[in-house]
Formats: sequence, structure tokens, C-alpha cells
Amino acid sequence: MISFNTSSTVVVTCFKHFASVLSKEIAALGYGIQETFGTGVVLHGSLNDCIRLNLHLRCAVQVLYSLKQFNSQSADELYKNVYAINWEEILPVDGYFSVTGTVFTECIKNTMFANLKVKDAIADKIRDRKQSRPDCGAELSGAVVHLYWQEDEAEIFLDTSGESLSKHGYRKHPGSAPMLEALAAATVITANWDRKSPFINPMCGSGTLIIEAALLATHTPPGVFRMNYAFMHLLGYTSEYYDAEKVKLEQQIIPADRQIFVATDHDPKAIDIAKKNAIAAGVYDLIQFSVCDFEATAIPEDGKGIVFFNPEYGERLGDERELEAVYERMGNFLKHRCGGYFGYIFTANPNLAKKIGLKTKRKIPFYSGKLECRLLEFELYDGSRKMKSDSTTGDKL
Ligand SMILES: C[S@@+](CC[C@H](N)C(=O)[O-])C[C@H]1O[C@@H](n2cnc3c(N)ncnc32)[C@H](O)[C@@H]1O
Repeated sequence: MISFNTSSTVVVTCFKHFASVLSKEIAALGYGIQETFGTGVVLHGSLNDCIRLNLHLRCAVQVLYSLKQFNSQSADELYKNVYAINWEEILPVDGYFSVTGTVFTECIKNTMFANLKVKDAIADKIRDRKQSRPDCGAELSGAVVHLYWQEDEAEIFLDTSGESLSKHGYRKHPGSAPMLEALAAATVITANWDRKSPFINPMCGSGTLIIEAALLATHTPPGVFRMNYAFMHLLGYTSEYYDAEKVKLEQQIIPADRQIFVATDHDPKAIDIAKKNAIAAGVYDLIQFSVCDFEATAIPEDGKGIVFFNPEYGERLGDERELEAVYERMGNFLKHRCGGYFGYIFTANPNLAKKIGLKTKRKIPFYSGKLECRLLEFELYDGSRKMKSDSTTGDKL
């Protein structure tokens, strides 16, 4: 049986531009970071550490535990190296597993073929040792083995997550053009927000941003919602460590002030969906929802916080020309109504961003799927300190 206490290399993967936020999340859990690269963070840890990372991380996609690194220049070499691993000590013979791969090599024609070789090697090894073999397929609901193969260097990991961690498990109703939960969390973490002052989210749609903000403020990690992870399907897994971590997660949740969360949208259906999602996430009582045009959103005078917009950007919803006026109105709203706050607009459209007409303090790159986006930050001066106007907003988006 594989030991859940033995340390190895752990690679936590994420979407492009998330690695710095992810490395801060990992460091906050007390782990030393060995390396941060474009789409991930490398550290040293055991399978029990992987359990903890899976339960806590908001911005990750997968937590990979390294089993073996080797040189491989052909499909046959890949097979031999994978076969040499004692899979009968890792995967239950009566279980189910799947194989995923990230392959950048000329040594093989396609990723599917590489994955198939890995799957065959695992199944053959277990059959040779146990006279029977586990089922396998494409579903990520059981154990998951991950192949990383670049040029002639290959590495076999246990993907301890299975289904992507980027979905946090509370959203039952997507609405139209929702943000992925990990993306919403990463933008909120990146924003200049102390998690105590008002978080105002006009155009809230299905509520992903306001819900992620409320989850951050109440110290509620995604592990509270999810019940199945790939690590649960490995030989040697006992629920002891996981159960103890779950209890700790629940004990760390703190109350937050209802007054600080405001979510509005002009579409009553969106508000209805956002309310259902907030109920599923356990934060409904913390959020004041209303149906209104964003300009009618009440901005609390006390304790200036942040105003966060995720408007349509003319890709999936809305027409670009009509949206120009909306972006201009958002700029005016931030300038005249949100003094003392920090304003944020998350958009993928640089032309529309120019219409905001405010000077950006930061332009932080993100990806939403394949779409390059920016989180635009505006420092909105109060009273006598006049907001500087600048028509170049977003020109480098
Ligand atoms: C891109 S969606 C927001 C998605 C949201 N972040 C989520 O995760 O579901 C934009 C939202 O803005 C709302 N909206 C557009 N124009 C508006 C306006 N003038 N006032 C208020 N809401 C508006 C739409 O109804 C839509 O729900």
C-alpha cells in the first residue's frame, strides 16, 4: 500500500496568470514553495499534504503527487517505465481509474495514444500480480493517473484531485456567462480588499464574485462543499486524516457582517439564480440582493471597501456598440458615486475598457477560458482629492 506520509514532489496546477495568487495561498497554509511556473507551483509534500491542499485551495486546478520521473523516447519506453511501478500497491484491483496526460513531445503522435500506453501498462501490471484488473475509462470520478511528457522527460503523477478544483462545488445554477469559481476567487484575492469593509457587486449575474468574497471573509474553503476526490480511491487511503481536516475546516469558519455584501443585477432571473447559489454556498444571509440598474446600487458611506464589476464584454452576451455606453456609465458611476472606494472592472475587451475614462492604478492579466482578460483597478478619491480622468484606460489590454 502506498504511504500517505511519504514525501515527494507535489505540483499544483492552475490557469495561466494564477500562479502568483496560488503560491500565496499555498504559502499561507505553511508550505515552502520550491518553484512557481506559468501554470503551477512546485512544493514537497506527502499524500496527506495533498489532501489538505485539495480541501483549501481556491485557485488551483489539480494537486499532482509525483511517483516517478524517467527518460522516455518512445511509447515502448513509456510502457516499460510505467509497468515497473508497483501499481498493485497503489490502485485497488476492484476499483476504477482513468489516465490523463499533458504531452509536448515528438516521441509520440498524440496524447491519447500516450495515455493509452500508460493505461495498458497499469492494467497489465495489476493483472500480472493479482490475476484481475481495475476498470478504467474517461470519467474522473475514481483514481486518476497523470502523465507529463516533455521532449524525452516523462513523469508519472497521481492526480489527487480528479475533477478540476476550479469548480468549487456550490454552484448548481450557472446563469448566463458565469465566471469560473477559481477565476472569481483569484480576482477577489488579487483585489485590494481587507475582507471586512463593504464588497459591492453590481451586475452580479449568478453571484460567483460576491459568493467567493463571502467565502473568503468567512474563511470557508472549497473543501466544505466537495465530497469526492481522487485521493479517496487509492489503496492506503483511510478517511482519518481527511475527516480530521474537514472538522478543522468547519471550525475555522467565522461569521461575517451582513452589511458588507451588496449584490445587484437588473435581471430578476440572475438575482434569483444568485440567491439559490448563495443558499447552496451557505452565505445567503450575508448578502443584500436587489434587482436594479447598477446605477441604483446603494454604496455604503461607512468603511470604504471595493466596488467590483464583471460586465458583459461583447463576446458571449451583448452588442459591443451598446456596451460602449454601459462602460462609460460605469466609469461615471465609479467616479461620482464611489469616492473613497477601490473600483474593479474585469473585462476581456480593451476597446470597451477605453470608454471607462478613468486612470487605472493596476491592470492585472487573467484568462477566462481561452480569452485574455484584465482586472482593472481604479483608486477612487474621496471629496477634495479629485479623480484623475484619463481616456487611455485599457489601451494595453
Ligand atoms: C457577465 S455577466 C456577470 C456574470 C457574473 N460575474 C457571474 O459569475 O455569474 C453580466 C451581468 O450584468 C448584468 N447587467 C448588464 N447590464 C446591466 C445594468 N445596466 N445594470 C445592472 N445589471 C446589468 C447582466 O444581467 C448580467 O447578469
